Amino acid sequence: MKYSRELRVSYIAALLVSLWVVPRAHSGDDKSKSARQTKTKTDQTKQYAWPTDPTLYVGSDTCKTCHEDLYAHFATTAHFATTMDAKLDAHKGVEWHGCEACHGPGKEHVEGGGDKSKIFTFKNATPQETSARCLRCHEYTEEHGNYDRSMHLANGVACIDCHSPHHAQESQYLMKAKSPDLCYTCHMSVRAELSRPFHHRVNEGLVQCNDCHSPHGTFRPRQLRTDGAGDEVCYKCHTEKQGPFVYQHEAKIEGCAACHTPHGSTNQRLLKQNQVNFLCISCHSQAATAGPPGTPSFHDQSTKYQSCTLCHVAIHGSNTSRVFFTP
Ligand code: HEC
Ligand code: HEC
Ligand code: HEC
Ligand code: HEC
Ligand code: HEC
Ligand code: HEC
Ligand code: HEC
Ligand code: HEC
Ligand code: HEC
Ligand code: HEC
Repeated sequence: MKYSRELRVSYIAALLVSLWVVPRAHSGDDKSKSARQTKTKTDQTKQYAWPTDPTLYVGSDTCKTCHEDLYAHFATTAHFATTMDAKLDAHKGVEWHGCEACHGPGKEHVEGGGDKSKIFTFKNATPQETSARCLRCHEYTEEHGNYDRSMHLANGVACIDCHSPHHAQESQYLMKAKSPDLCYTCHMSVRAELSRPFHHRVNEGLVQCNDCHSPHGTFRPRQLRTDGAGDEVCYKCHTEKQGPFVYQHEAKIEGCAACHTPHGSTNQRLLKQNQVNFLCISCHSQAATAGPPGTPSFHDQSTKYQSCTLCHVAIHGSNTSRVFFTP
């Protein structure tokens, strides 16, 4: 959590520049409070009993009569499918249809001539409450099923911090902004890492945050898409580093991150240390009595022996050489 203060500051900054200056800054307060209270799995879907009495619902066509602009935009989004019976397999009740599937039953709101207190507006609601409304439909997919336990929700980040059903800025996925800019509004330190001289080309559009992380949460640390040690997520693109090799470099058991920084580095090859010998010796010290073998005594640290990978070239593993001299 070493970034949390910086994040909070940048998060508030992000809120201030958003359109929702007054109401959102307020709900930001609520967010941090509720985040503290609900660190663990929350399932507000079960706590809020969604009314099923059909007479409480009026249907999207009625909403259209007063909210024409919103309706016109709604009709161009993927959510319009929820107004069409033919597209609804599991969810056929009126409470799953159109505007009211998110805002709840609208009869009282309409009868009150548009009484704002009689409809769910998403304003001043906790991230858990707003996200639960979305998850009602979206939690059944592999991608979103883990949102309840994501670092994002636990830290008060809601679906509608990244998506907007009515005011999306991107043509795809109702995004409020493009990645990685969206992510950088809160993750300033990652922006700095990805701007280092050697980096995965995320800013250049070659690699996405999403290739390695899920913004929606996963079972694994750091919301990584695969294995916690980081390897699987790297093999997706660097397959040749996986092997199987006859002679594995067992350093990889600790993950690629034992030697590389995943985002960016001031060192070539994204290495954690700028001189490769220091990196190797951090595990292969000459005095080693346990663990990996020390370097042989003829490795006298004269310049000749400093560039370890000049001789030990197949550093990720080899099929022919126990000491990785050849691939
Ligand atoms: C997928 C869920 C969802 C659906 C469907 C939906 N809304 Fe919304 N609505 C929201 C959210 C979330 C907000 C808060 C603003 C935002 O994030 O875009 C909102 C905000 C609003 C507002 C506040 C004013 C504004 O412009 O933001 C009105 C009015 C509104 N919705 C009406 C409607 C109507 C009418 C429909 C049907 C045509 C509808 N909504 C369908 C989720 C939804
Ligand atoms: C008879 C006209 C009328 C109908 C029909 C109607 N609304 Fe409204 N709605 C209003 C008015 C007026 C407001 C208040 C606008 C304001 O004060 O800014 C409002 C406000 C809202 C808000 C809150 C916006 C905010 O800024 O907080 C939401 C959400 C909303 N309506 C959704 C719906 C939905 C969903 C339906 C259909 C179930 C619907 N409305 C049908 C007139 C109507
Ligand atoms: C009533 C069910 C329902 C609710 C509630 C709901 N969605 Fe959806 N959502 C859908 C369906 C259906 C689709 C279209 C899926 C498809 O085409 O595969 C969809 C698609 C999306 C997409 C992809 C859009 C695209 O252009 O591909 C996003 C993003 C999304 N929803 C976000 C949200 C958010 C945020 C909320 C809460 C504010 C929400 N949804 C609430 C049913 C729902
Ligand atoms: C931290 C930002 C962030 C949050 C929070 C977030 N999303 Fe997303 N979401 C994204 C990004 C980025 C994409 C685009 C993925 C891509 O380009 O492949 C996406 C894609 C989607 C899609 C379309 C693609 C798909 O996999 O179906 C849906 C639906 C969706 N999100 C729903 C949700 C819902 C529901 C929530 C809350 C439970 C949510 N998102 C929370 C960033 C976010
Ligand atoms: C090439 C894969 C990859 C890409 C691309 C990537 N990450 Fe990461 N990220 C990782 C790995 C692996 C870790 C875990 C590092 C560790 O635990 O030592 C991580 C850690 C993180 C963390 C935890 C804190 C930290 O800085 O270590 C955050 C937040 C994060 N990434 C956000 C992002 C964002 C935002 C983007 C896009 C702008 C992004 N990442 C792009 C692989 C990636
Ligand atoms: C509204 C602010 C906000 C946005 C936008 C946002 N994040 Fe986050 N993210 C957070 C907060 C707060 C945390 C929890 C604090 C932390 O661990 O860094 C977090 C945590 C994470 C983590 C887990 C870090 C860990 O230590 O386990 C990853 C990975 C991550 N975010 C990636 C992304 C990606 C990718 C995007 C863009 C699609 C994104 N975030 C957009 C606020 C945000
Ligand atoms: C989505 C594909 C993708 C994933 C996932 C990925 N990489 Fe990469 N990686 C690349 C590409 C493309 C390059 C070439 C970069 C360039 O030419 O700018 C690269 C380059 C590298 C380099 C060498 C840079 C250089 O200077 O030659 C290292 C080291 C590296 N990646 C490590 C990792 C690690 C560790 C992971 C897992 C945390 C990982 N990669 C995950 C696509 C990926
Ligand atoms: C024992 C430390 C170590 C571990 C663990 C390690 N690497 Fe490397 N890696 C290196 C070194 C050292 C270089 C530079 C080799 C050179 O300069 O010839 C390198 C270079 C690379 C390169 C760029 C050059 C090339 O050979 O393509 C990529 C890509 C790469 N590593 C990916 C990975 C991936 C993916 C993992 C995890 C499976 C990983 N590395 C684990 C030490 C390591
Ligand atoms: C994270 C710790 C770690 C780092 C960093 C590391 N290694 Fe290793 N290395 C190991 C482990 C563990 C083994 C397996 C030892 C065994 O078989 O008992 C190993 C094995 C070896 C072997 C084979 C030795 C044998 O007798 O099987 C060589 C050669 C080697 N490493 C060279 C290097 C070089 C060169 C570097 C720097 C690029 C490096 N290592 C970095 C942990 C590490
Ligand atoms: C000039 C070529 C050369 C360079 C440079 C070099 N080595 Fe070696 N290394 C060797 C030779 C030769 C062996 C012995 C191979 C054998 O036993 O078959 C060896 C063996 C090893 C072993 C295995 C020891 C064992 O007991 O199994 C390790 C570990 C090792 N080197 C680490 C390193 C490290 C760390 C560096 C950089 C500081 C390095 N080497 C630089 C040539 C080199």
